[in-house]
Amino acid sequence: MKAAIIGANGQLGVDLCRALAAQGVEIAPLTHRDLDVSDAAQVDRILESSRPDVVISTAAYHKVDECEKQPGQSFAVNAIGPLHLARACCRLDALLVHFSTDYVFDGKQQRPYTESDLPGPLSVYAVSKLAGECMVPFNCRRYFVIRTCGLYGVAGSAGKGGNFVETMLKKAAEHAPIRVVNDQVLTPTFTGDLAEVVSQIIRPDAYGRTDAYGLYHITAEGQCSWYEFARKIFELEKLAVDLQPVSTAEFYSPVQRPAYSVLSKQKLNRLGLTMPKWEEGLARYLAARRTSIPRTTTAPA
Ligand SMILES: NC(=O)c1ccc[n+]([C@@H]2O[C@H](COP(=O)([O-])OP(=O)(O)OC[C@H]3O[C@@H](n4cnc5c(N)ncnc54)[C@H](OP(=O)(O)O)[C@@H]3O)[C@@H](O)[C@H]2O)c1
Repeated sequence: MKAAIIGANGQLGVDLCRALAAQGVEIAPLTHRDLDVSDAAQVDRILESSRPDVVISTAAYHKVDECEKQPGQSFAVNAIGPLHLARACCRLDALLVHFSTDYVFDGKQQRPYTESDLPGPLSVYAVSKLAGECMVPFNCRRYFVIRTCGLYGVAGSAGKGGNFVETMLKKAAEHAPIRVVNDQVLTPTFTGDLAEVVSQIIRPDAYGRTDAYGLYHITAEGQCSWYEFARKIFELEKLAVDLQPVSTAEFYSPVQRPAYSVLSKQKLNRLGLTMPKWEEGLARYLAARRTSIPRTTTAPA
């Protein structure tokens, strides 16, 4: 099997390359420099010359504050990009794996969101990602659209300039008081864990179903607020930090974010596939970062 991985040097992309290569999959890694998903002709040319069996795209314009000011760019990458990929995959009869986000929901629900719950995007980024999800099923036959949440990986998110864990550890090293919101609940997800499950879901022999294509929620198990996530980071790293919970209202942002964006994994579980608890993923990440150098450590998630 040959897999083209788009956004191959992003935090999820790096872990996907690693997880699939470990399973003997031939990898065609494509960075933004190699291929821009918003360029239809380039998508067609590169995928047609590479002829992958699977195309996995992590490409996104996901600086949510910037997206609010750049709706055209946001839709070009997050909505029209997946359209180009879906059309190319249809022509090549390749499987498409596309990633979406918990931000498609408005966060007003009190229980984990299932794939059949109605989206209610609150921002330009969220609307553009929802539009991208819709492009896929109408334009290709075999696809997985995977909504995920709160990603952090050892490669760090280039788009956001780091990840939340690294931001917290950097602040701890500066010995300054740290304030983190306690009224936004999510499931932090280690990209290494997500990549492992993606490497299984694309192989029907791993769960015995060849008709399982569709929309899936895949995050770690459990939930916490950003404050609780930060507290766990410092607990596992045995750091004494002046950490205070604050409310979203105390932090000005031009962008509304869902207050609750926990995703139900029941549909994934029905395939016999499971994700570990978020605390276990965090412990694995902290162990992995000791042997790797994260790319940057500057911006919050
Ligand atoms: N990060 C999160 O917390 C989170 C949460 C929910 C869902 N997601 C979704 O998960 C996916 C992966 O996120 P991530 O955190 O791994 O992001 P990331 O680290 O920023 O990686 C995204 C990759 O896509 C590339 N890219 C950006 N624009 C592109 C374009 N127009 N054409 C081709 N490649 C492009 C980036 O390259 P450059 O950096 O060189 O531009 C980067 O390699 C995204 O679809 C995102 O929307 C992320």
